[in-house]
Amino acid sequence: MKILSLVLIVLMYISGVETSLATNLERGQELHDENCTSCHAAIYGEKGNDIYIRQNRKIDSLSGLQEQLLRCKNSLGTNWPEDQIQDVQDYLNKNFYHFKEEDNE
Ligand code: HEC
Repeated sequence: MKILSLVLIVLMYISGVETSLATNLERGQELHDENCTSCHAAIYGEKGNDIYIRQNRKIDSLSGLQEQLLRCKNSLGTNWPEDQIQDVQDYLNKNFYHFKEEDNE
């Protein structure tokens, strides 16, 4: 019985973590699509997100992604809290860049 409740607790914990991760990515995408896409699209045409997968893209590390994101965000003049910036970064990394944390070292 003890083991069963332990398993249940672990399962609840895991699914809770996954849900919040998905929510953060969704929030990141929302923030991104509302604020970032139109400017990239103005430069790169209809599919603004092509900027992230273009042949000569500039970003080659997670820290590079973070730097460019902050530069672009500043040009927007928005004042996002740390966790929203992180969500957008996670969204971009998960969908386009696929850097691992250790690529930063
Ligand atoms: C005012 C216009 C503008 C806005 C708004 C903007 N960007 Fe950008 N972004 C650019 C330009 C221009 C470049 C290309 C810079 C270069 O080639 O040096 C760029 C490039 C990037 C790149 C690098 C692409 C590559 O080469 O891999 C990332 C990542 C990025 N932007 C993220 C964002 C995010 C996230 C937002 C929203 C918070 C955003 N941008 C909003 C203009 C903008």
